[in-house]
Amino acid sequence: MEWEWSYVVWSVIILVPTLIIVFSRKRSSSYNLPPGPPGLPIFGNMFDLGTLPYQTIASFKHKYGPIVWFNIGSVKTMSILSAKTAADFFKNHDFAFAERKIIDTMLVHDYNKGSLALAPYGTYWRVLRRICTVEMFVNKRINETVDIRRKCVHDMLQWIEDEANVVEIKGSGTEVTRFVFLSTFNMLGNLMFSRDLVHPGSKKASEFFTAMMRIMEWSGNPNVSDIFPCLRRFDLQGLNKKMQRDMGNALEIASTFVKERMKEREDGGEKKKDFLDVLLDFEGSGKDEPAKLTEHQINIFILEMFLAGSETTSSSIEWTLTELLRHPEAMAKVKAEISEVVGKNKKLEESDIDNLPYMQAVIKEALRLHPPLPFLVPRRAIHDTKFMGYDIPEDTQVFVNVWSIGRDSEYWDDPLNFKPERFLNSKIDFKGQCFEFLPFGAGRRMCVGLPLGNRMLHVVLGSLLHEFDWELPENVTPKSMDMKERMGMTVRKFQPLKAVPRKTSG
Ligand code: HEM
Repeated sequence: MEWEWSYVVWSVIILVPTLIIVFSRKRSSSYNLPPGPPGLPIFGNMFDLGTLPYQTIASFKHKYGPIVWFNIGSVKTMSILSAKTAADFFKNHDFAFAERKIIDTMLVHDYNKGSLALAPYGTYWRVLRRICTVEMFVNKRINETVDIRRKCVHDMLQWIEDEANVVEIKGSGTEVTRFVFLSTFNMLGNLMFSRDLVHPGSKKASEFFTAMMRIMEWSGNPNVSDIFPCLRRFDLQGLNKKMQRDMGNALEIASTFVKERMKEREDGGEKKKDFLDVLLDFEGSGKDEPAKLTEHQINIFILEMFLAGSETTSSSIEWTLTELLRHPEAMAKVKAEISEVVGKNKKLEESDIDNLPYMQAVIKEALRLHPPLPFLVPRRAIHDTKFMGYDIPEDTQVFVNVWSIGRDSEYWDDPLNFKPERFLNSKIDFKGQCFEFLPFGAGRRMCVGLPLGNRMLHVVLGSLLHEFDWELPENVTPKSMDMKERMGMTVRKFQPLKAVPRKTSG
């Protein structure tokens, strides 16, 4: 009997992968797929990609051209590596690829069903997108919330100043991005539900912050279940279990905030007109769209704003400051511009940003070299599609490699060097029309938070530069600075940036 069982088990172990290979070969051989590196049976190219896959895939362009095909385990993948191909993709095929490839950890608590970033291209996505573009991320609304960002920036500067005065860290530098992250988190917290979430006095707020940090970590971890979906139910790395727990906590806390607000509104409290009130006020037609958003959808939307907005913004600021410290001439120039426009004894205000073209160029140049999402948020083919003469099967995941496109010598002079000047008197912008520069993506699923993210980047960086002179820690020179990258939810510096802030005089 025992022998029979092991016979069955071994047959399954050998037969199933063989059938998968034979079946997938047969299926894909009938497709005219884009060229790409040969892969191993079952594993495909997963061992070729390394820890920084956007860099490895960028190197495929020399051999295979601007569209490359490969398999990550059993996941069919196409990567786009040139601006010309990206232009065709977004202009002519955006609809066919308008859905997302969803990672396994984002299926817990039905997150994907309530999420805007992961929602299928359809009514629910359209409703959320409209709420965002019409009610939340319009310039008028962003202008009305200027006080929130002013206060959060003020707090951040104070935290940095306090830490800079601690004797032990003098000379060795402070991890500046930690404060930037907390500040962006608080900005989003105040925009969402009018409260500071990183607040020593609030237990609930700090629990929310911890749960969100963990969610970011689990969702940024490579997961075997994504490479071999047939292994999903085993959750070999335990990531689903951890995500289940931490997302559950975050949702529960968001739910208490939402319930408190609903109660306040029932009791006739004054409307705050933050994002939470916008979500609670939403009234759809009830015919082709929901009449109201459910509480679960609202909770997930809240989590999403933090997930999408805090890491992207703070890692972009970390890279910008890093590049400025590596390029003292650019640092001197941007500081001189800010000092001249804002004035020595005044705080930088959002209304100053339009008059700071060099700072804008600095931020663009850092986003060109260090887009926080090098593959954007991966798309998925909704159905079998013809793209540039190739047959792309349904469900193929697409990496638009904006890291590689931003460093392509076909479009950029001296592409690997940090030269903000290239953006002065240039029409190249990141609004999704210039396909050589796509840090916020393009097309229907382009970043919906761009107007807010853009504002936060400028006001936070500008204030850091205006209030402090930044120096490198002892024993570090611009040339010896560590520039290694690591990929999680976003691409961050491998070693968090440490820099020494000195309060500017005046
Ligand atoms: C430096 C700041 C930011 C960068 C670089 C960035 C980048 C991106 C990128 C590359 C995408 C995918 C676009 C595509 O697939 O074509 C995206 C999507 C998205 N972003 Fe951002 N983002 C930033 C800030 C924000 C902020 C502040 C928010 C909101 C608070 C936000 C909310 C979203 C959402 C909801 C989506 C999904 C849109 C959809 O699928 O329709 N982002 N972002």
